[in-house]
Amino acid sequence: MTNDRLPEFPAGFQFGAATASYQIEGAVTADGRGPSIWDTYSHTPGLVLNGDTGDVACDHYNRYPEDVELLRRLGVDAYRFSVAWPRVLPSGSGPVNPKGLDFYSRLVDALLEAGITPVATLYHWDLPQALEDLGGWRSRDTAERFAEYARVVADALGDRVRRWITLNEPFCSSFVGYAIGRHAPGAREGTPALAAAHHLLLAHGLAVRELRAADAGEVGITLNLDRVLPHTPDPADVAAADRAETLHNRVWLDPLFAGAYPANEAEVWGPLADGSYRREGDLETIGRPLDFLGVNYYRPTVVADGPFTEPDPALRTAVDIRSPERGVEGVRHTTMGWPVVPGTFTDLLVDLKKRYPQLPPIEITENGSAEADTVSEDGRVHDTDRVDYLNGHLHALAAAIDAGVDVRAYFVWSLLDNFEWAFGYERRFGIIRVDYDTLERLPKDSYSWYQRLIEEHRARH
Ligand code: NOJ
Repeated sequence: MTNDRLPEFPAGFQFGAATASYQIEGAVTADGRGPSIWDTYSHTPGLVLNGDTGDVACDHYNRYPEDVELLRRLGVDAYRFSVAWPRVLPSGSGPVNPKGLDFYSRLVDALLEAGITPVATLYHWDLPQALEDLGGWRSRDTAERFAEYARVVADALGDRVRRWITLNEPFCSSFVGYAIGRHAPGAREGTPALAAAHHLLLAHGLAVRELRAADAGEVGITLNLDRVLPHTPDPADVAAADRAETLHNRVWLDPLFAGAYPANEAEVWGPLADGSYRREGDLETIGRPLDFLGVNYYRPTVVADGPFTEPDPALRTAVDIRSPERGVEGVRHTTMGWPVVPGTFTDLLVDLKKRYPQLPPIEITENGSAEADTVSEDGRVHDTDRVDYLNGHLHALAAAIDAGVDVRAYFVWSLLDNFEWAFGYERRFGIIRVDYDTLERLPKDSYSWYQRLIEEHRARH
């Protein structure tokens, strides 16, 4: 344990827990839900570890009252969940499925009843398959369809949900899904992945307009920002880190908060960027003012200059645009293989505030770790590594706040062990263990630790 003292936060700071629809809900054909790209992807043999799918997941769709009760006992102020587009509009657009919407309405009512603020993400990667069949995020139309969907949800829930996140991690939806192919829809393309990135940003901006028109409350977007570091001070590695910085961070932050795409983007994309998918006025749409920026943070990324590892030259730029990643020596790694270096969280936030003076307040919408949890003989999960991770990162966050960064909330990822995308159920991020045979929930030591942190925070203020 690096620091036994619990981190302290200012009065009014909010604590929460986060999940996402496809990762926990299951019930993929219930009440008229349509298929999503993750149903297709997970059912394609060989793509997800152990052939896992989200068909049952944590069965949260049926067990949500129990999960809300666990949230209430945890003592959180807020709960971040996502709405599954294919439940609301089974084919992506067209007729609304009232039963799908009703699930979220029941969930929101249960949360409010428990005194918990609902924070809804509109898109956490489960694109309706029908829209993918028309081109998915490669197509500009998908951005328009997203805006319509956002309006439907805001009209139905906006009287009770007053905090919205348009997109979760567009980096993953575009580059991991359409270039690297390790997420749905599993494409390995070049220019279409860049078009997807632009269309996601556009979808965000169009949805902001709809949420404002519906008077739905506060609106933000969640980005997975990376603390990118060069492997060595060698100028070639520094240049590689600069390219990776653009790819991971600036390609989103610049259009959202500085009104332009990054100045060095041509250097990063090379011939892939033909820009044909960008239209006049798009940047104004993308840059609409936001009430908060959601940041998901897990680990630093250390990069070195080439050589690229992708064997197919046609795909080289598309797949390896990231520059080769190097490990961090001398620190613990989680079961995701991610290095645990909490101080990089402080650096990222302090730097962000310097570089984007116009930034709205920040909410940490995800942070947590996957660990090799086991149930001990005493029937409990003593996940000391996770407690250590959370403690370190919350101290690092408190340090950023002390340094003047305006952060107003923190959501632990995740409330429950769940479907960790291409890693299936093997990687466990929950502060509550899920037994996938019985679907029983078992709060881990990290749950009790977080509960104590929240209690002490309340007692102090
Ligand atoms: C970010 C994603 O938003 C979430 O879905 C995922 O499970 C976590 N990171 C952990 O990888």
